[in-house]
Amino acid sequence: MEQHLHLQPPRPQRRPVPAPAKPHPSVAAASHPALSPFIVRVDALLKSRPLREVPEAVAGLLAGLARVEGLLAPHQRRPGDDGYRRHLLHRDPRGRYTLMALVWRPGQGTPVHGHSAWCSVAVHTGHPTVARYDYEPGYGALPTGAHCCYPGEVAWEQPGVSRPHRIYNAARDVAITLHCYGRDLASDPCAINLPV
Ligand SMILES: [Fe+2]
Repeated sequence: MEQHLHLQPPRPQRRPVPAPAKPHPSVAAASHPALSPFIVRVDALLKSRPLREVPEAVAGLLAGLARVEGLLAPHQRRPGDDGYRRHLLHRDPRGRYTLMALVWRPGQGTPVHGHSAWCSVAVHTGHPTVARYDYEPGYGALPTGAHCCYPGEVAWEQPGVSRPHRIYNAARDVAITLHCYGRDLASDPCAINLPV
């Protein structure tokens, strides 16, 4: 089974996510109105598409969400001093996925890891770098390349550790990425990462 971390450049022609008349019932009242149509569309994808196709399709939706100005409240843009910080944006009431904003100060990043569930990512602000690896039993993670990303750029990944990666901020400004993970992480965000 293919395990690549897929990267896709920004698509400026993609239509912005429209605001709904009423917020999705599971979205907090203070959340940006663009979150509700995103959630409705992810729910529809989970009903209509094979799970294998979901990460790429959700990444396409995240690209539109990442371009929404004012998407995040000030407290959701706050970085951490001792490492990158996760902010919970939405937890699917049925536990099928979790949406988070990750905030990266310059120099902050993850270790090399795989995922315990599918994952879709979009760059909201800044220029984080994605480094990719091949995992070879007995040798560990062997680097295969790194890519500096731009706002609106997306990536997605199937579960597993055979094609691990890491994300870090080598730029001078804070970066913010949106991550949709295919499991409930509200109580334990670290459960998504599988060490390599
Ligand atoms: Fe990851």
